[in-house]
Amino acid sequence: MALPPQFLDELRSRTSITSVVGRKVKLVSAGKGEYKGLCPFHNERTPSFTVSEDKGFYYCFGCQAKGDIFDFEMNTRGLSFMEAVEGLAADAGMEVPKPSPREAEQAKRQAGLQDVVEAACAFFQAQLYRPAGAEGLAYLRRRGLDDATIARFRLGYAPPPGPLREALGKQGITERQMVEAGLLKARDDGKVVDYFRDRVLFPITDRRGKVIAFGGRVMGDGQPKYLNSPDNPLFHKGSVLYNLAGARDAARDTGRVIVAEGYMDVIAMARHGIAEAVAPLGTAVTEQQIQELWKLCPEPVLCLDGDAAGIRAANKAAERALPLLKPGKSLRFALVVGGKDPDELLSTAGRDALESILGKAQPLADILWRNALEGRPLDTPERRAALEYDLDQLTQTIQDGTVQQAYKREFRDRLYQLSRSQRQNSFTPAKRDGKPWRGKDFQPVAPPPSPLTPPPSAAVQRQRILVAAVLTHPELFDHVGERLGSIACDEPPVDRIRQALLLLLATESGLDFEGVSSHLRSRGLENDLRFLLSPNVFAHASFARPDAPTDRAMSGWDHTFELGLQQEFRADVLRAGAQFARQTADADESEQALLRLKALFFQDMRRMNDDSLDD
Ligand code: UTP
Ligand code: MN
Repeated sequence: MALPPQFLDELRSRTSITSVVGRKVKLVSAGKGEYKGLCPFHNERTPSFTVSEDKGFYYCFGCQAKGDIFDFEMNTRGLSFMEAVEGLAADAGMEVPKPSPREAEQAKRQAGLQDVVEAACAFFQAQLYRPAGAEGLAYLRRRGLDDATIARFRLGYAPPPGPLREALGKQGITERQMVEAGLLKARDDGKVVDYFRDRVLFPITDRRGKVIAFGGRVMGDGQPKYLNSPDNPLFHKGSVLYNLAGARDAARDTGRVIVAEGYMDVIAMARHGIAEAVAPLGTAVTEQQIQELWKLCPEPVLCLDGDAAGIRAANKAAERALPLLKPGKSLRFALVVGGKDPDELLSTAGRDALESILGKAQPLADILWRNALEGRPLDTPERRAALEYDLDQLTQTIQDGTVQQAYKREFRDRLYQLSRSQRQNSFTPAKRDGKPWRGKDFQPVAPPPSPLTPPPSAAVQRQRILVAAVLTHPELFDHVGERLGSIACDEPPVDRIRQALLLLLATESGLDFEGVSSHLRSRGLENDLRFLLSPNVFAHASFARPDAPTDRAMSGWDHTFELGLQQEFRADVLRAGAQFARQTADADESEQALLRLKALFFQDMRRMNDDSLDD
């Protein structure tokens, strides 16, 4: 409904913005009709939020939030524009102009439709506790939901055809209305049938909490797993977020919003005390949804399943958000690895496990960067130039000039570091006691891993564990150093740590975990350390934990290395041996080297000789 601009201007001029803002923010005068206070849109200790009475505007120097009285009401109270106007008009003693007859008609129709959906919701809720809904109730209980949660989310059950139509009919609702509300559908043969049959229902609400649609889940293996109401005048799938109304207050209190993939994830989070969770409806987040999320907090966290679909969704959301970025406004990405969704993680590992993943959410720039690097070798200038070109194309899509510049600088820095490390990679490092460490020169250059790739392979996991254990137990070095030197790590951060450990521990002894970490940090490996020391690594190998005793760490290391030998280091070691033999002019020395390798790595020497020497 469009309001005449004259009306809005008059309302603005009759309303003091400082008094509207003053209801939420304690303001102090800063002279010349300007006021200052603590920004309600971000956390701060010193005031950077300013209000100008003359201009009728607020602006925050910290988070760049800005707007007029209407924006302030919408953004701090989660109101729609019309609701903000109505409230402010009432305060100012003004009457909101009546809509045109056509607009009035449409508003009435929507209100009527909403009543129909609300009536259906109440019906479905009641069904859950009737004999007909026993199976639905049992299903929800099996999934760990108690009555309070069922009531809070107004979950229900749609019985097989018939009863809904009858019940709503008794309330004077016509079939036509039920069709329009998406509760019934007209089949091709003209018959009108129930839309939801024998499914548990998740009511979907609008931004104010009014039910506008449903998602219905089959209880068995039927297809589709979830069926959503068709779009109708109330419900446009791409602009609605599940549980937005329920999450709003919590989002303001905690200063964050979590965007999960599914209904059950949102509900599970709420049950575990994370009320600020929402979900799109089975699609990647849309532009509208991103804008909606930014009204709640500047950096919503997308919490995605660690499967291929979750990764696609992340990449899609990242690219979609680019054109919309504003200073301070972005998205973050948290990936639930291990093939679980947040719901499953919460029920198996509890809230702390999920919080730890949320706490490590990656910035948008990282997602774009890793996605751009994914699966492409960068070992030549031309290939790096192609990457640079692609990144440039990507940053071009950012509309906001300031953000675009910041991204350009960021990617330029990263490219610079990358090409430096690529060049360093092809140089053979470090001798210890005159014995060369195995160089990396014959190893293909692996691209850095994407944080959103499916869980690492067992081999990669093993590499991480072996490197991490030496990091947390430097005292192992004398025992494992040579073998550490022989491992090829697929992930550049892990390999950088490995190389740094080799250099450091070969020359310095007596360091502990702390000491080694601070050395590595001082060499700029802070990010690599963080990458390596994810709890995930330790989840797979408690012996690598910093608090594990040395003897456990050592036997764990030996065992893990042994497994690796059996499964994948073998090929690697063979190549190292062959290379070594070729490089060593002296036949005796070469023989010696191979014998040493044999002693170190192989039970099955015959095979190694056969394979490697004619390699
Ligand atoms: P998932 O398939 O990940 O399901 O779909 P889930 O959320 O883990 O559900 P449970 O735990 O098996 O019950 C994620 C979301 O995608 C939408 C739904 O919104 C769902 O919550 N979806 C999924 C559909 O719209 N249709 C489908 O057939 C499947
Ligand atoms: Mn699930």
